[in-house]
Amino acid sequence: MKELSGDQFGKLTQQIYQRLGLHFEEKKNYFLQKRVERRMDALGLTDPQDYVFRICYADPNGQEMQALANLITTNETYMFREYEQLEAFANCCLPEVLSVKQSRGEQKLRIWSAGCSSGEEPYTLAMILQEVFPQSQYWNCEIVATDIDQNMLAQGARARYWWRSIRDVPAAYLEKYLVKDGDSYIVREKTASLVRFEHLNLHDRMGMRAMRNFDFIFCRNVLIYFDDRSRKAAVDNFYNSLNRGGYIFLGHSESIGRISSAFKLKRVETHLVYAKE
Ligand SMILES: C[S@@+](CC[C@H](N)C(=O)[O-])C[C@H]1O[C@@H](n2cnc3c(N)ncnc32)[C@H](O)[C@@H]1O
Repeated sequence: MKELSGDQFGKLTQQIYQRLGLHFEEKKNYFLQKRVERRMDALGLTDPQDYVFRICYADPNGQEMQALANLITTNETYMFREYEQLEAFANCCLPEVLSVKQSRGEQKLRIWSAGCSSGEEPYTLAMILQEVFPQSQYWNCEIVATDIDQNMLAQGARARYWWRSIRDVPAAYLEKYLVKDGDSYIVREKTASLVRFEHLNLHDRMGMRAMRNFDFIFCRNVLIYFDDRSRKAAVDNFYNSLNRGGYIFLGHSESIGRISSAFKLKRVETHLVYAKE
């Protein structure tokens, strides 16, 4: 199959950036070439020019960009990833928010896992919530799990995981919240029912505007694929999505400080978290 020219790569990466917020540098051209080839095969195209044309001018409902997005996102994830951060959530932030709510007579808690991939992160949060706050079953608790990649969302909804995904789950949790089925594990119904999967492009302004009234947002290991401009747009939206007193958690290597001063940086145990005051 013919390779994309420099100009074609330029047009394609510009479209990807504008529509998904994902920033692809030139060193990723080989990776993109291979993904485009898969789409061209599926569409029966042989000339990359036709594919670039399709993406730029003949994709009115975004279906082809979505099919490409399903191939070019990085979906690496596993349960209990970045354990220390989850400890800060479980030991301090979650009890604090719950106690404020209890003092106000509120019984509703909303958590958003933004860029949830195949669901390991939202199910981890569901396990922690049940463990830290057994009364959650009497509350209206919801974990909304969103991603742009439809294949990952479908995997998440199946709630079935293999060793790679569950390798860091503490033994007691494994027993309590997952059930072994052959060589895989299924998230138990009570835990799984706390999680609702939804398709959302974090770069879609309208979709982001609909996400409101969250007490916690986890957007870990997602913004690293954005450039500063799309990162700032996403973080500004997250600010509006959070309730006052709520927290946002990014991945270890990610920092909001450089792109937004709206959040307050707090030290929780050994960890730094961002709060909306
Ligand atoms: C590396 S995974 C992180 C999964 C999980 N948050 C974790 O930390 O383990 C990054 C996820 O972000 C999603 N993603 C990338 N760009 C996105 C966008 N514009 N809108 C929504 N999700 C996006 C990808 O599809 C991928 O599943």
